[in-house]
Amino acid sequence: MTRRRASFADRFWWGTATAAYQIEGGGTNTDWWRFEHRAGTIAAEPCGDACDSWHRYAQDLDLVASLGLDAYRFSIEWARIEPTPGVIDRDALEHYRGVLDACRDRGIAPVVTLHHFTLPLWVADAGGFESPEIITWMGRYAGVVGEALGDRFAMVCTINEPNIVAAMGYLAAIFPPEVSDWDRFVSVNAVLRRCHRAMADALRPAGDFPIGFTLSMAEYEAVDDGEDELARYRHEVEDEYLRAADADDFLGVQCYTKHRFSPSGLQWGGEGELTEMGYPFWPQCVEYTLGRASAFTSVPLVVTENGIGTNDDEQRVRYLTEALGSLERARADGVDVRGYFQWSLLDNFEWVLGYAPKFGLASVDRTTFARALKPSAQWYADAVREARAAGR
Ligand code: BGC
Repeated sequence: MTRRRASFADRFWWGTATAAYQIEGGGTNTDWWRFEHRAGTIAAEPCGDACDSWHRYAQDLDLVASLGLDAYRFSIEWARIEPTPGVIDRDALEHYRGVLDACRDRGIAPVVTLHHFTLPLWVADAGGFESPEIITWMGRYAGVVGEALGDRFAMVCTINEPNIVAAMGYLAAIFPPEVSDWDRFVSVNAVLRRCHRAMADALRPAGDFPIGFTLSMAEYEAVDDGEDELARYRHEVEDEYLRAADADDFLGVQCYTKHRFSPSGLQWGGEGELTEMGYPFWPQCVEYTLGRASAFTSVPLVVTENGIGTNDDEQRVRYLTEALGSLERARADGVDVRGYFQWSLLDNFEWVLGYAPKFGLASVDRTTFARALKPSAQWYADAVREARAAGR
């Protein structure tokens, strides 16, 4: 397999990230929409119109441009492209061509994710990641998108956090399809790695852009003699994926915190400062996770997500200050990192937690959808400018 490392930008990419379902609104044809509306759902509230970015993506990109960032990571909603099996919605493809062109017009490199947690209803109904055809279907979807839009891609993430799709959907039972079964979790992880490979292969002919997937990583601490359980879990959610990344052009590392792990699994909460997500304020996870990833794989790394859910914008600045310092230490240590994407551009739909956690550099009025940059956005823009001036 040919790697395309040469086509990475020759400078470090500073960016911000979003995902279709969390910002577009109206994702009615997905498993998540149904999950949020089911009687007795554990989802805090429905996604609804989200940030209405389906109609307001130009405003979003104006914000990205105003911050002077190099790149914008967003995702394409499979349920819109292929609303029923094998039927491609050309208007939906045109819509995303518009988003890609709007990036180009502003000098922003588009980093495109093809699957970010949501499945079309017809795929979910056919068994989702346990359907015997899922690998074929995801490869076919990637091929269609690549053929139509690949000439505009700067970089592609096939699947966002397949390990979280498996862990939350098939072990913790808090994402669709709400299953809790170790063996099914293990086999879905293996299927997701094969889906990624099928998608990457289907995308290869579409252009000279780096292809990889993104992985949720964390610093972990074993508590109450949880070392063996932690090793078993981590083997599934990190190690197997890190090894699989060797066949790619890059690996997206996504990190937010440090988790404690006991024999009964992940322990929420903990002592010290916590974020709105209920896990520790732990920006130094950036250096830690990059170091761990680079011990497993030699492909270039990109921090495709890092940030904090908080209503306290000063806490966000403190988090980002420490996170960028942590990134710098990893780079100074020789880890091959090519970019950093803050999560997220907007306060958006945070899955089962709804709109309560605020990850955005910009707030979004839930009635008018007006965007307003927060002081942390200016802080990030300044930090990026200073990093560039210092040659970083
Ligand atoms: C996901 C995002 C999510 C973020 C913050 C990542 O796991 O890719 O969709 O909003 O974490 O929780």
